[in-house]
Amino acid sequence: MNFDRERIIALIEPVSSLSEVVDLASPSLTSHQEQVAYISMKIAEEMGLSSQEQCQIALAGELHDIGFLSLEDRLKFSEKTFEIQNTYNHETIGYALLRKFKPLEYPATMIRFHHLPWDNGKGASYNNMPVPLGSHILHLADRIAVSIDKRKEILGQVDSIVKQILDHNETLFNPSVVKAFISLSNREYFWLDASSNYCGRIVKEKLEPLNLWLSMKDLLLLAELFAQIIDFRSPFTAHHSSGVAATAGALARLAGFSAVECQLMQVAGYLHDIGKLAVPGDILEKPGDLDDTEKRIMKSHVYYTYRTLQDISGFETINTWASLHHERLDGTGYPFHLTAVDLPLGSRIMAVADVFTAIMEDRPYRKGLESEVALEILDNMRKSALDPHVVSILFSNLEEVNTIRFTAQTMAEDRYLSFRREIDTSDTSTHR
Ligand SMILES: [Fe+2]
Ligand SMILES: [Fe+2]
Ligand SMILES: [Fe+2]
Repeated sequence: MNFDRERIIALIEPVSSLSEVVDLASPSLTSHQEQVAYISMKIAEEMGLSSQEQCQIALAGELHDIGFLSLEDRLKFSEKTFEIQNTYNHETIGYALLRKFKPLEYPATMIRFHHLPWDNGKGASYNNMPVPLGSHILHLADRIAVSIDKRKEILGQVDSIVKQILDHNETLFNPSVVKAFISLSNREYFWLDASSNYCGRIVKEKLEPLNLWLSMKDLLLLAELFAQIIDFRSPFTAHHSSGVAATAGALARLAGFSAVECQLMQVAGYLHDIGKLAVPGDILEKPGDLDDTEKRIMKSHVYYTYRTLQDISGFETINTWASLHHERLDGTGYPFHLTAVDLPLGSRIMAVADVFTAIMEDRPYRKGLESEVALEILDNMRKSALDPHVVSILFSNLEEVNTIRFTAQTMAEDRYLSFRREIDTSDTSTHR
């Protein structure tokens, strides 16, 4: 990663990794979003849309079901602060999550209506809100993707899929989008690609040269957005990653890291639990103790963080700092059981930041611990598990670091509440 340049990473890289880890959570949907990204991109190309438009549509495809992170029933989950009565749809939630990050604002508007039937006012608007053509492309691509049975030979399925789509031409689907699909459907490679595991790779390769590039400032904002996607799955942890990011950033500064390194540490903090997206929601949300199987599944989150971040070029340092936060100096951590010689200072900082944030933050079922109790826990852990030097830095600057953590978590909590308010009051359900 070249930090002197403004363009440090192509947007498609982290987006595609996020898409992959999200789809791991439901085995029946493995690679679904990448498949939809591929099919949408091909239809857009066949329709003669510009490269930039194809790129935006592919980004929307990669993230179109991101709102399922907070499935309707998850959001109906009630806990004392948020009594939820309404039902939600994943299009609205996906839109609400993504729209605030400028480079994803346009894809978010496509996602908002990706199940809108074409014959609903010829698909041009919904409740006076304009519906982009990309929504109709996503809609058709999504239906094609779910019609493909990956366990069976693909070319023998083409006729029945085409027939199904034609049966809904001009009712569910936009006729010009269907026309482009029909001409694509004559080419075997389209189906072989669409039913393969190569979709993500093909989309990435096509988009990289055209794609939006992110500056460090954008990368921080994107990582913060990912933290919301990770944390908003459960009201228990709606602000955890923001607390870890702020604490780790502060500890890095106090340990003498450069300004750029401190920003990278914050990015790593926002992403340290991204592997939790591969853990089923009922385990994440279980208020009581986890049983042995659930504990093992939960522990795998950090393995998935490692594999997810590994795919992003230039993220080597961020990955090392983020993914080793459950490793311990004495080798008792997981999943690699590394020991002191293998654990760089950045990873040790993250481990302390994670423990400190977890014991200080409020959870719905318990208040955060008082500083003295937290100090005692950390003091015990520094004997063999946590880096004694990093813990000393924390102890000597406790008030400052704790204020930074608390402020970041309060802001994250406010963002969570306003997100909940936005989806509580929106009425864009397009299902019929
Ligand atoms: Fe969907
Ligand atoms: Fe979908
Ligand atoms: Fe973790």
